[in-house]
Amino acid sequence: MSKVRIGIVGSRFQADCIAASVKAMPEDAEVVAVASPTPGNAEAFATRHGIPAYYSDYREMLRDRGVEMISVSAPNRLHARITIDAANAGKHVVCEKPLCVTLEEADAMIDACARAGVLLLYAEELFFAPKYVKAKQMADEGAFGRIHLVKQSEKHSGPHSDWFWDVEQSGGGALMDLGCHGIAFCWWFLGKPNVKSVYAQLSTQVHAGRTVGDDEAITVIEFANGAVGVVENSWNRPGGMDDAIEVFGSKGQTYADMLMGNALPTYSEVGFDYAVEKASSTRGWTYPVFEEHWNYGFPQEMRHFARCVRGKETPISDGETGRVVQQVLYAAYAAAGLGRKISMPFAPKGISKPIDLWKKPELAQATL
Ligand SMILES: NC(=O)c1ccc[n+]([C@@H]2O[C@H](COP(=O)([O-])OP(=O)(O)OC[C@H]3O[C@@H](n4cnc5c(N)ncnc54)[C@H](O)[C@@H]3O)[C@@H](O)[C@H]2O)c1
Repeated sequence: MSKVRIGIVGSRFQADCIAASVKAMPEDAEVVAVASPTPGNAEAFATRHGIPAYYSDYREMLRDRGVEMISVSAPNRLHARITIDAANAGKHVVCEKPLCVTLEEADAMIDACARAGVLLLYAEELFFAPKYVKAKQMADEGAFGRIHLVKQSEKHSGPHSDWFWDVEQSGGGALMDLGCHGIAFCWWFLGKPNVKSVYAQLSTQVHAGRTVGDDEAITVIEFANGAVGVVENSWNRPGGMDDAIEVFGSKGQTYADMLMGNALPTYSEVGFDYAVEKASSTRGWTYPVFEEHWNYGFPQEMRHFARCVRGKETPISDGETGRVVQQVLYAAYAAAGLGRKISMPFAPKGISKPIDLWKKPELAQATL
């Protein structure tokens, strides 16, 4: 199989992760180009990762005939525009989470890729995280009997870039940023059942000076098969990223702590270079991770997507997956705004960003 040639849009946090992850599994794909608007950034990124071509405008990269697949690693508000432009240029698309900001954008992205005959792949790495994949394999074998509760939590001390805190660019706070993982996870783990209802409790506990977005979120998802998903998110957890699951069934349960559970419990009085994403200090007790990208599933995800492009595998996470998540995000923000659970399907039109359904509950009320 010839390698799938990837062009990355973006040159910072997630772009670095994608480039390193592709390099970790070099037999199926290679990064051949990068595009980023800040002067010097694309070139520096290309030098850092040994990438032959770099552009300041992603539309120039879309004209590069050597690029087959685009990784959209830019802020949320740009996902739809970049995806549609890439599809129109005949490129397959891997879109970072969340898929986009509005449901109309989700539909337009799915439609553009279908019309162009290219794949729209939704980058949910938790579907590939080795510990979580093992939990799902055991669940599918029946190890836990009938599963009635799946919990996923992702918490850290707050995002690294300003745009996440600006809800005009991000679409929402911790729920939008981190909850999209947990929503996708619960749905996937349970075998992709229909969502029956959604409830959420949202608040801004610590960062009201920096954002109008939620920095604490608890979302309860009721599935049509009777199982329940609970998704907990926070931007108020100092000490580095925490990502964990709990699964409960009639015959058993399992727990997985992706990062600290795989880490080296460490004490150092002087500190060291790096422990884990978003840890502000490495002094005292810390939980340094090893093979961080691998534990998340990023290299495995990119290998799967490359193999999908070559027709060797069928996507387990695509535009429709991202759209399911987007609908639950809408419902969760609306539920928090109205203070009651929202029955699905819930797909109000004309909402400019999910968080508006929390801040202006009348928008949600008008569509019920
Ligand atoms: N899967 C995950 O776990 C994960 C982790 C982090 C981020 N993400 C997602 O990846 C995306 C990027 O997040 P990030 O953390 O890398 O943000 P970041 O702020 O670190 O980087 C954003 C990049 O987008 C570039 N950019 C901005 N405007 C652009 C434009 N008009 N055209 C092209 N590029 C542009 C910036 O120059 C920068 O290089 C977000 O959607 C985020 O939610 C996913």
